[in-house]
Amino acid sequence: MSSKRLIIAVDGPAGAGKSTIAKRVAQILNIEYIDTGAMYRALTLKVIRSNIGIDNIEEIIKLMESTTIEFINNHIYLDGKNVDKEIRENIISKNVSYIAKIKEVRLMMIKLQRQIAESTNLIMDGRDIGTIVLPHANYKFFVTASVEERARRRYIELTEEGKENITYEQVLEEIKIRDKIDSTREIAPLKKSPDAYVIDTTNKTIEESVNEIIAIIERG
Ligand code: DC
Repeated sequence: MSSKRLIIAVDGPAGAGKSTIAKRVAQILNIEYIDTGAMYRALTLKVIRSNIGIDNIEEIIKLMESTTIEFINNHIYLDGKNVDKEIRENIISKNVSYIAKIKEVRLMMIKLQRQIAESTNLIMDGRDIGTIVLPHANYKFFVTASVEERARRRYIELTEEGKENITYEQVLEEIKIRDKIDSTREIAPLKKSPDAYVIDTTNKTIEESVNEIIAIIERG
């Protein structure tokens, strides 16, 4: 069975276009798409709703132990409820890195992610997929873009929806902070796997980046 499996790992910093690109690649190849960031976001949502301090690691771990996080038809469910929208709010983006650096949280998420990858062909995106979660993936991609471009995209996304009152400079600062926490944390930091292809999306359209990935996979 393993020779027929198709497992693709996509990593990279916030706002590089990973999710949009990975979703599109999944459609083209007719495989599943798993957004691991959504899993960390779902737990962050629960922590915020529970009024536990973001630095209260002991209580966060306890809370996690009674939490279910699942993907059903590409939608993320927290304790049986769809939270696709709630996890995208800026309060979650601002806090999620603090949750994602807790060792016990990562261990549980990694276990869940490996379980999901056991039974299906998929493209999984995150920060540590090619390095830690699925080191034996058939293909690994590191999708990146300049920090200014990533902030610009995120700013447009947040203000387009009209629900966040935020400046470009604030978004840029938040992304820089998140990059720093994600790439300097002790466990499973954001890092390019040595065998990953780098896709720099700074001056590319989504379609161009998708085509680059598909071409690499088709080449075999
Ligand atoms: O990709 P995203 O912005 O939705 O990710 C949310 C946060 O979760 C981000 O700060 C990094 C963290 N994350 C992680 O540590 N490991 C992953 N595999 C995926 C996301």
